[in-house]
Amino acid sequence: MAEILKRGTWENIWGYDYNSKNEAEFTNDFLARLEKEGKIGDVVVDIGSGAHPLSDIIKRERVKSRMRELREEERPPEVKAITVDIAGDRRAPGHLKYDVDNLKGEKLYSTNKAILKVCRELGIDPRTDTDPEKVDTIVLSKILCYVDYQSIIPALAKYLKINGRFIIINNGDKGYKKLMAPGGVKSNDELLSFLEGLGLEIEEKDYPYQEEDGKKSDTVVLLAKKTK
Ligand SMILES: C[S@@+](CC[C@H](N)C(=O)[O-])C[C@H]1O[C@@H](n2cnc3c(N)ncnc32)[C@H](O)[C@@H]1O
Repeated sequence: MAEILKRGTWENIWGYDYNSKNEAEFTNDFLARLEKEGKIGDVVVDIGSGAHPLSDIIKRERVKSRMRELREEERPPEVKAITVDIAGDRRAPGHLKYDVDNLKGEKLYSTNKAILKVCRELGIDPRTDTDPEKVDTIVLSKILCYVDYQSIIPALAKYLKINGRFIIINNGDKGYKKLMAPGGVKSNDELLSFLEGLGLEIEEKDYPYQEEDGKKSDTVVLLAKKTK
């Protein structure tokens, strides 16, 4: 019942975007730079993707870099991106309609179903290939205040390859206040010490956005690498 209510609420605001122009421009440049530096990899999972997924920017940047290459054999493969969201169209290609809070605790039917769908998208046979470390980059943009992040981040980290990364954008106290979860991130400092406690290496930490009034925003942008 609670999940249906939660999903319905997010469905109602699906497509609504509270990112400012200045944030969108920075995010584009940031992801383009990471792609140029070879830090994104070929398999991306975008959690709480929304209707304008950051992984779409990553896919576009890869298309551009494929066009820049001269010889076919030098071209990087296309990015395989899977978007995961409690809302959206469950039939959309590469989209998984799933409540990530279900990752905590016992494995539920919906989680098994979600894992099978991801395996299908990635061309993996889960009966013969049981190694979970398949993902190069997990995007967590403006989602961690809405979910039980202390359960969800470790549960997702299992699926990252060694040297895979989380791209995290956490929007301080901005957002849909009424939808924020009791176990959601309350401060950037708390989030950073949690990530470090998990043994993730914080490669980048920046507060790049500005508010409309020109003041620095407390939205943090992080790049965190799984090294072991
Ligand atoms: C503020 S939007 C962020 C969208 C996008 N990542 C961005 O940065 O613009 C939060 C998104 O998280 C999704 N979401 C909220 N709770 C979720 C949950 N428990 N499981 C999966 N997705 C969830 C919402 O449907 C919404 O699309």
